[in-house]
Amino acid sequence: MEVTTAPAKPQFSAAAQAEIQRIIKRYPEDRKKSALLPLLHIAQAEFGGWVSPEVQDLVAETLGLKPIEVYEVSSFYTMFNLKPVGKHVLEICRTGPCMLRGSDELTENLERITGAKVGETSPDGMFTIKMVECLAACGFAPVVQVREKYYESLETPEAVDAMLTELRSMVHRPLLPWEEQQTNA
Ligand code: FES
Repeated sequence: MEVTTAPAKPQFSAAAQAEIQRIIKRYPEDRKKSALLPLLHIAQAEFGGWVSPEVQDLVAETLGLKPIEVYEVSSFYTMFNLKPVGKHVLEICRTGPCMLRGSDELTENLERITGAKVGETSPDGMFTIKMVECLAACGFAPVVQVREKYYESLETPEAVDAMLTELRSMVHRPLLPWEEQQTNA
């Protein structure tokens, strides 16, 4: 008879836990919910770029919230991924100024080059394509955000090639903000 074991409950790393405690201390004890957005960002970075229901439950437990209080926030903001994603998530701005500067063509090109449609991950697992609203860099349209980095003025094939070449060449994931702080301490 095949024995199945429950998947291990996700746990934050020691570095992430230290950062979480630092963030929680900013708020009064009865206002811990205010730390929800930063904790979801930490959780997404820690667990492969997306927040599974189990990971969201961990966030709820950490903050003493009901799971539904986390689900309703994570499902509202487009920056949280609710299903597995590729190594790099290309968040293409589709708002007016970027559209006028060619975001539709940019999207078509990225779909063709990566083999992934909007909302999908490329067959090689490298890229997920998402459409988002204004990234507040309208003066440099069209814009794509990948984690904390903006790729701007992507109206030429050369600029798009340079972005994809840089992303493909990343062997290691970039350090997370709290890891950088510890490295520089
Ligand atoms: S419209 Fe694209 S960054 Fe503002």
